Amino acid sequence: MFSNLFANLRGDIHSIISRDPAARNGWEVLTCYPGLHAVIMHRWAHACWNVKLKWIGRFISYLARILTGIEIHPGATIGRRVFIDHGFGVVIGETAVVGDDCTIYQGVTLGGTTLVAGTKRHPTLERGVIVGAGAQVLGAFTVGEYAKIGSNAVVIKPVPAGATAVGNPAHIIRKEEQSRGAQLFAAYGVTANGDDPLSKALRALVDHVARQDEQIERMSTTMREAGLCCPKVAEGDKLDSEQLNRLVD
Ligand SMILES: CC(C)(COP(=O)(O)OP(=O)(O)OC[C@H]1O[C@@H](n2cnc3c(N)ncnc32)[C@H](O)[C@@H]1OP(=O)(O)O)[C@@H](O)C(=O)NCCC(=O)NCCS
Repeated sequence: MFSNLFANLRGDIHSIISRDPAARNGWEVLTCYPGLHAVIMHRWAHACWNVKLKWIGRFISYLARILTGIEIHPGATIGRRVFIDHGFGVVIGETAVVGDDCTIYQGVTLGGTTLVAGTKRHPTLERGVIVGAGAQVLGAFTVGEYAKIGSNAVVIKPVPAGATAVGNPAHIIRKEEQSRGAQLFAAYGVTANGDDPLSKALRALVDHVARQDEQIERMSTTMREAGLCCPKVAEGDKLDSEQLNRLVD
């Protein structure tokens, strides 16, 4: 049981280091990350809740709220390696489900819109969802795998897997077809340079120059074959488009 506990903790710490550019080492994460403390305390609270020690569960959840500013109802289901970054003002309701590897920023509510006790009232976040700061996800619907919710969005409808939803009420701005196995976490939900207009322009220029080089090389070969003098370009002077594209990425 204890080895399982430590394996979970190691996994949590490692996942925080890999997802937060500001995290310097494991000790700092263990001692200074309220999101980690809230998730650990939630595991105790949830265990008590599940064996009908409901008041103790509620009380642990209340202590966690005082300590971290994060309120997770003991009935909520929180997956593995869930990272609540900064965390202050996060509220996660009783019937919410947060899948493995989700990231939630400060001020997020996973809330309900109905008062009927005993029913599913809160959202389900599938694996790898990123919920931006201040977003409100309200209702008993599902946010699909690896979807991104923009900061301050108000989400009241299901979000498909891989999609990005922003605004109030939230609308889908991008639906990415992603392979489920090979997902990379993008810090703050921001797509890596792939969407940066400057990177796009540089990559297009590099590809254009590479195509021109090929054309010139073909013309030179034809001229040499026709007996016209045309010196070969030295290997070292050739454009290495792959290396340049790697620098732009
Ligand atoms: C939604 C988000 C994931 C999109 O990131 P992205 O894929 O890089 O998207 P872009 O920045 O290219 O923006 C795409 C469009 O959505 C709009 N947009 C981006 N974020 C938005 C938001 N939170 N609310 C409303 N519109 C938003 C942009 O203005 C842009 O619109 P345009 O195409 O009309 O110009 C990101 O902006 C976001 O909100 N991440 C959460 C960050 C966060 O909470 N950080 C807390 C750190 S402490």
